[in-house]
Amino acid sequence: MNKHYKIGLFGFGTVGQGFYENLKKHPHLPASIEKVCVKRVDLPRIGHELYFTDNPDELIHDPALDIIIELIDDAAAAKKYVHTALQNGKSVISANKKMIGESLEEVDQWHNEFDATFLYEAAVGGGIPIVHAVDGFFRDQEVLKIRGILNGSSNYILTQMQQYQWSFEQALSDAQAQGFAERNPTLDISGIDATYKLSILAYHAFGEVPSLNSFSAESIESVTKEEIKKARAKGRKIKPVATIERLGNEIVCSVRPELVDPNDALYSVDSENNAISVDTVISGKHTSVGKGAGSLPTGSAVLEDLKRLLSGYSYEVSKTKTAVA
Ligand code: HSE
Repeated sequence: MNKHYKIGLFGFGTVGQGFYENLKKHPHLPASIEKVCVKRVDLPRIGHELYFTDNPDELIHDPALDIIIELIDDAAAAKKYVHTALQNGKSVISANKKMIGESLEEVDQWHNEFDATFLYEAAVGGGIPIVHAVDGFFRDQEVLKIRGILNGSSNYILTQMQQYQWSFEQALSDAQAQGFAERNPTLDISGIDATYKLSILAYHAFGEVPSLNSFSAESIESVTKEEIKKARAKGRKIKPVATIERLGNEIVCSVRPELVDPNDALYSVDSENNAISVDTVISGKHTSVGKGAGSLPTGSAVLEDLKRLLSGYSYEVSKTKTAVA
């Protein structure tokens, strides 16, 4: 008989509910959510048929669960749950860019040390399938540079300010109401959220852990209404641009608001959309555009990871190193 996989889900917020809704549309998948760990079990929410608990041990130490899906915003707690679950032989899916971006050295060890698989497509670019693409196809093409828009909230804020003359505060509170911005939106607007995503992409593209200390981030709060007006008058836009490239032995990375021309691939990427241009030696530059934040798009990336996990997929990055060693 074919195995049916049991999932323990941490978090039932924007992304957790997006994953739940996506999973419901795929009843043929041999996997189901058995337990959900949330901070407060008494809150009214969708998913009445699900079992909710506020005890993380009920998930990470339950031998009946095969897969842990971690979709909470507390990076320190997430790291503990993910690590323990992997130690306990459970495969893990996460969307936690802060936890993964800040802990890439350890994540690299986890890929090598544990038989259980760890996947995190939803941590970068929301609904854009980019992590596994950079990890496999693009790395084989030899990546020179990655440039893009990696934060949906800051792109949404600048778009609303540019197109509708909204104030920064109005645009930010709308981005929060729509579930794009983090609970702590400083990470979005400061560019830090995008540096986590860049470092994850760089790890898979270049096969080494970049140092976050060498990253520079400039907040979109420095963008004035006058600058936006001037850019529009010249037919240009201000975009939150994230760039990472290898220059000699160094990996150089920046996130900052930049003026872009209409002939730039990022010019027409508006609202919460993200774009990622991967420049490769063999097949040139590829740009992927799609919804970079929000419940259903990000939840769909979690579902894709689940499908890959069920098919036996794991990232190439650690296998390549083992092969070389
Ligand atoms: N707060 C993030 C963003 C969510 O706005 O891009 C997706 O990672």
